[in-house]
Amino acid sequence: MLKINENYLKLPGNYLFAEIKTRVNDYKEKNPDADVISLGIGDVTQPLNDEIVNALHSAVDDMSVPESFKGYGPDHGYSFLIDAILENEYASRGVKLGSNEIFISDGAKCDTGNFQEIFGLDNTIAVTDPVYPVYVDTNAMAGRTGEFINGKWSNVIYMPCTAENNFTPALPKETADIIYLCSPNNPTGTTLSKTELKKWVDYARENGSVIMFDAAYSAYITDDEVPRSIYEIDGAKEVAVEFRSYSKKAGFTGTRCAYTVVPNALTVKSESGEEVSLNNLWARRVSTKFNGVSYIIQKGAAAVYTDEGKKQTAITIAYYMENARIIREGLQELGLKTFGGVNAPYIWLKTPNGMTSWELFDKLLNEVNVVGTPGSGFGPSGEGYFRLTAFGSRVNTIEAVKRIKEGLEV
Ligand code: MLT
Repeated sequence: MLKINENYLKLPGNYLFAEIKTRVNDYKEKNPDADVISLGIGDVTQPLNDEIVNALHSAVDDMSVPESFKGYGPDHGYSFLIDAILENEYASRGVKLGSNEIFISDGAKCDTGNFQEIFGLDNTIAVTDPVYPVYVDTNAMAGRTGEFINGKWSNVIYMPCTAENNFTPALPKETADIIYLCSPNNPTGTTLSKTELKKWVDYARENGSVIMFDAAYSAYITDDEVPRSIYEIDGAKEVAVEFRSYSKKAGFTGTRCAYTVVPNALTVKSESGEEVSLNNLWARRVSTKFNGVSYIIQKGAAAVYTDEGKKQTAITIAYYMENARIIREGLQELGLKTFGGVNAPYIWLKTPNGMTSWELFDKLLNEVNVVGTPGSGFGPSGEGYFRLTAFGSRVNTIEAVKRIKEGLEV
């Protein structure tokens, strides 16, 4: 008899952002005239910059003549993009990596979700709580997380990050095999300092763990002291995989381009005692299951690193960070406690008057037509918090803050 993957049946409810979409669509159906502003899912609103668009057009032209037409691309990605990444994202911060350590992909969501596939099922994962739901849900689909009881998976180590510990996860007492860290953090908008990251690298080295470091929002760091990459920490190449993306850096949520770094120094012992290179395993997985990001899109991503591309990309990032300031300061004037929004495009706020996260979601949707993301959707320690994104248009951001200030009693 055909069997399904029973692990899927253990998943609680819908994927967070699908659930929000359903609730918002229901509301819109019942209130067709409502002007609903979404500051919920972190989706960009500003168009691709001219430098990227010109590169995309010219790459389309390349595809139109036999001399420059491209079929399947190289497994790791085109060297014009990999070289630009090595120089601009890493060498510029004192990090030396080789071209075979970079894998161009179609998204950090897919890669952070898929990477667990190359690890055994009996590993224990540790996640910060609240957390980007993809890490936990994909491990649950694989059957690594145990049972879902009272809002928690029995085989997941949750590391609470709340205002009380300044959103800094404590090292687990148990041994965590796979550790997910995200800095700048989605959803809390906070970052890990060099000192904090060093503790994690040391822990991983001592315990034979692997760190999955999600740096999808690194372009939003404004403070020079905050590390952009985990490889700025000594020894990290032996224990960490890093995920980066053009989605938020350059408006590629709909265009799709990202990259994952798997250093050659990162090895794990197999059951037979052999040192196995994770780079080799990931390369094997990628070449078997993926045919690469299209040449056209990789050309667009490479345009982020021309002089003009850098200037234009910085302008859009500054635009979103100004939104972050407007939200942060507006909510603070109202008397709300806010976090993040300085080195990240997310503002994390404490719900007022003891409201639950979903109560605040419903209130804002129904009464002022503003959509945010309930903190509890990111994990049990997100209860009593709420996330707003800075990725809206300026007009909508200003209007949403005005509506919240007028409609919410604190
Ligand atoms: C979010 O809102 O957390 C992000 O947009 C989700 C994602 O990047 O997949």
